[in-house]
Amino acid sequence: MSKDTITLTPLAEDVFNGLQADNKFLSSKYFYDAKGDELFQQIMHLDEYYLTRKELEIFNTHKQAILTAINDGSPFRIIELGAGDGLKTKVLLKHFQEAGVDFTYTPVDISSNVLEILEQNLQNEIPGLKIEAYAGDYFDALAEISERPEKDIVFFLGSTVGNFSQIEAEGFLTKLQQFLKLGDLLFMGVDLKKDPSIILSAYNDAQGVTREFNLNLLDRINSELDGNFNRDLFQHYPYYNPHTGECRSYLISKVDQTVTVDGEDFHFRAWEAIFMEISKKYDQVQLESLAGVTGFKSKASFLDEECWFADVLWEK
Ligand code: AVJ
Repeated sequence: MSKDTITLTPLAEDVFNGLQADNKFLSSKYFYDAKGDELFQQIMHLDEYYLTRKELEIFNTHKQAILTAINDGSPFRIIELGAGDGLKTKVLLKHFQEAGVDFTYTPVDISSNVLEILEQNLQNEIPGLKIEAYAGDYFDALAEISERPEKDIVFFLGSTVGNFSQIEAEGFLTKLQQFLKLGDLLFMGVDLKKDPSIILSAYNDAQGVTREFNLNLLDRINSELDGNFNRDLFQHYPYYNPHTGECRSYLISKVDQTVTVDGEDFHFRAWEAIFMEISKKYDQVQLESLAGVTGFKSKASFLDEECWFADVLWEK
């Protein structure tokens, strides 16, 4: 019954795999089409979505301490994985540039469109900033860039690492570490464990933007893979498990139904769920041990006033 995998796009292949599984799942990495990018921008401005504000606070408060911790006087390169609109990073880049530090900024993103806009914007706002953007896959970028002699500092901000389970995070960070030279650094934004109701609200906002963000993937499958999901027959259900630190989002079929995608039928029993996204939260002890198992030494961490979010600095 499964499709000839050779002819399938990555999206199609992942969608078929996920919808055929006993516990159905779709990957949150596909949330970000044009509409998804727009919805995520809206999410970042929601009252409930504290993550972006907290990280911005950390950068504004600790920019000099962060610079002191990463700068040993020799020129360095900042490689930012998943740079996006670079709004928060700009605070740091501006400060570093004004401090007269010799560094190059290499934003990496799959979208060359996003990178062009970012480059334009940074050139206007931070005169003299050295930018060398890289459009493509994270690890392709790292393979190419880490060949060069100068010290690399990888920025992986915004709790993007939270989209990985524990096992996936360990795998990803170990692989990342293997691309780095001794003395290279990782500067990573991580959301911290806190009052569970605060966390849950961030993924269950009153305006329903997060709900739209999840449902948008069904719309995307409909338009790109000729699907016929009826979004009204699915309910957005996020829940936070304080033990694992995982906030997980599900879309739950409210009725018994069959959905067709690219000519294939997928049956949903009533109240059967599609697992959509993990947004994992850590505590400081777990972060120390994550550094250890992935081959890093923890050098510093920078927190907001309420200790809701952390930017950690790890060294290979
Ligand atoms: C972009 C992965 C950090 O998990 O908090 C926001 C994405 N999902 N609301 C997160 C997201 C639902 C976000 N990250």
